[in-house]
Amino acid sequence: MGGSESTANSDRLAMDEAFWRDVGSHYERADGIINLEHGYWGKMARPVLERYIAATQMVNKQLSVYARKHYGRDMAESVERVAGALNVSADEIVLTRNATESIQNLIRQYQGLTADDTVLFADIDYPSFQQTMQWLADTEGTTAVVVNLPGRASQQMIFDAYISAFDANPNLKLILLTHVSNQHGLVVPVARIAAEARTRGIDVICDNAQSWGLLDYTMPELQVDWAGFNLHKWIGAPVGVGALYMRRGTLEKVLPYPGETDHDNTRIGARVHTATSNFAAILAVPAALDFHESVGGANKEARLRYLRGLWTTEADTLPHIEVLGGADETSWTGMASFRLRGQSSPAEVRALQQRLEQEYGIFTVARYELSSGACIRVTPQVFTTPDELAQLVAALKTLQ
Ligand SMILES: Cc1ncc(COP(=O)(O)O)c(C=O)c1O
Repeated sequence: MGGSESTANSDRLAMDEAFWRDVGSHYERADGIINLEHGYWGKMARPVLERYIAATQMVNKQLSVYARKHYGRDMAESVERVAGALNVSADEIVLTRNATESIQNLIRQYQGLTADDTVLFADIDYPSFQQTMQWLADTEGTTAVVVNLPGRASQQMIFDAYISAFDANPNLKLILLTHVSNQHGLVVPVARIAAEARTRGIDVICDNAQSWGLLDYTMPELQVDWAGFNLHKWIGAPVGVGALYMRRGTLEKVLPYPGETDHDNTRIGARVHTATSNFAAILAVPAALDFHESVGGANKEARLRYLRGLWTTEADTLPHIEVLGGADETSWTGMASFRLRGQSSPAEVRALQQRLEQEYGIFTVARYELSSGACIRVTPQVFTTPDELAQLVAALKTLQ
């Protein structure tokens, strides 16, 4: 498979069906329905699944003898691999169960708000994190500001929306930024917004749950101090592996997990208390990163963007369909959403999702949180074929 990539090579390879058939042959396919809902979690490729099964058998056989004597060393290797792939240091990463554990700990343990401060989140953020940000504001007696973005937005439009919210709220202290929205795959220009936030003394918590592996990047490019990930979406690890990143020297503002101590604020591990976890899932992380890297992160991003373009380009020509997500190429990912024009109520979109499933055999998911209204999210995977997307396009043409 792939290996080293340049953007031009990746864009060329994105259309190489033989290459992607080979990649797809490493996954077990399910018959019966066209699954275009791969934003929930990622299928493990066969080598990852095999490693996971073998690790489960080994852990189940060796039990506490393994866990107490050897697991620490193996987990450290997984941490090293995650840190390496993100181009950060191992002491800036702690493994968690999912992105939710990582981000919620950051929000809940964030220190230093006073009643005069303001926190900010956006309609495109993950719904439960919006709620946790609102909870933080309510608990601290501060104000929460919500940025509402248009259903289709360019990098400049998104940047401008955040900057005008910064200007309008001089007491902003903490913001949540989502690198890729779970609603419609919109890419937020995190680095530009974070750079502006830094000059204004605003702290940033970055949600990278949907972006790592869907987009090809490393942490230093984003210029944020704190971020939460999972590895069970686009990195293809078993369900139950997340990561928390905190840049060295930035731990002071986020308290240790209740009851943990870290007097000189150097131990990121003190920010979570995961306790007994899925040992085998963590043991399979190197295999997941090996497979991801063998396909090539840039190749995967380019292929998923290409697959998305196969349906959004056609859908854009249909007057009865409204496509949601990026208004320029940089703002797109492989994931995007749509609805029937003028039909944005939850009930209308729920009915549309059902029709797609029952009449056309295409599985998608309805998303309800955008301020512009509900939508159907469409998420291909690396093993999705152009023919499957052609069937979606055929369905879109007849939906009225
Ligand atoms: C943008 C975003 N944030 C956070 C999450 C939560 O991730 P996890 O289930 O790993 O906690 C998701 C999952 O769909 C997501 O899409």
